[in-house]
Amino acid sequence: MSNRQKEPLDLTAIKVPDHIAIIMDGNGRWARRRGLPRQAGHRAGVENLRRIIDACVEFGIKVLTIYAFSTENWGRPPSEVRALMRIFARVLDQEVYELHEQGVCLHHLGDLSGISPDLQAKVKRAIELTKNNDRLILNVAFNYGGRAEIIHAVKQLLQDNVPADAMNEELFSNYLFTKGLSDPDLVIRTSGELRISNFLIWQAAYAEYLAVPEYWPDFDREALYKALLAYSNRERRFGLVTA
Ligand code: IPE
Ligand code: IPE
Ligand code: MG
Repeated sequence: MSNRQKEPLDLTAIKVPDHIAIIMDGNGRWARRRGLPRQAGHRAGVENLRRIIDACVEFGIKVLTIYAFSTENWGRPPSEVRALMRIFARVLDQEVYELHEQGVCLHHLGDLSGISPDLQAKVKRAIELTKNNDRLILNVAFNYGGRAEIIHAVKQLLQDNVPADAMNEELFSNYLFTKGLSDPDLVIRTSGELRISNFLIWQAAYAEYLAVPEYWPDFDREALYKALLAYSNRERRFGLVTA
């Protein structure tokens, strides 16, 4: 983490959303720009995540959801997939205690059974360790896809023999990985891409969307603050008209 002095930021100037979700994109391009392998970009991305978690705690955000590995990312070259799994395992081994100290409660979104037993065990241990923390809920979407999540929910509903008449949005939401959590207020995608890439397609139906130019490893506390300023100037109408 950088030791430079934190710039004082006026937190009274922003409306702090309860829940922000981030598509952490641009690690590969960040690395290529430096003549480094893509893996170096992923490592820099993890270091940045630490900074952003600190900033979320500082700004009073209650829930942070991050897109770390999609169901589609399995199609990347095997060496890159292996590197991502290694990085995830290392974070779970080395960073979880610090997150715990900080009051972070870890959740996982996605299909855990699709990852190695060793990694599954690490995820379960981290969730168990941090389950009573309430400063910041950190949802890690790993082996996550919005369509796969919806299919998973439908299968469970059918298994539970839920009658058609009982079905409504609230009940359906309770079958998603985000059960019990508020919907994201703001979805940020770094690296300038204008896509949702199968992320929270149900939950983000009415989220404010913001694409920022920085590659993920460069998206720092000040950039997050700027994003929150932009969010504060949005008018969320939810289909209604302005009073
Ligand atoms: C995001 O960065 C991290 C993951 C998808 C795991 P990318 O790896 O997609 O970086 P770019 O988009 O190729 O620059
Ligand atoms: C989305 O980024 C997935 C994650 C950030 C984990 P991608 O880089 O995989 O998305 P596309 O391929 O550009 O849509
Ligand atoms: Mg990408």
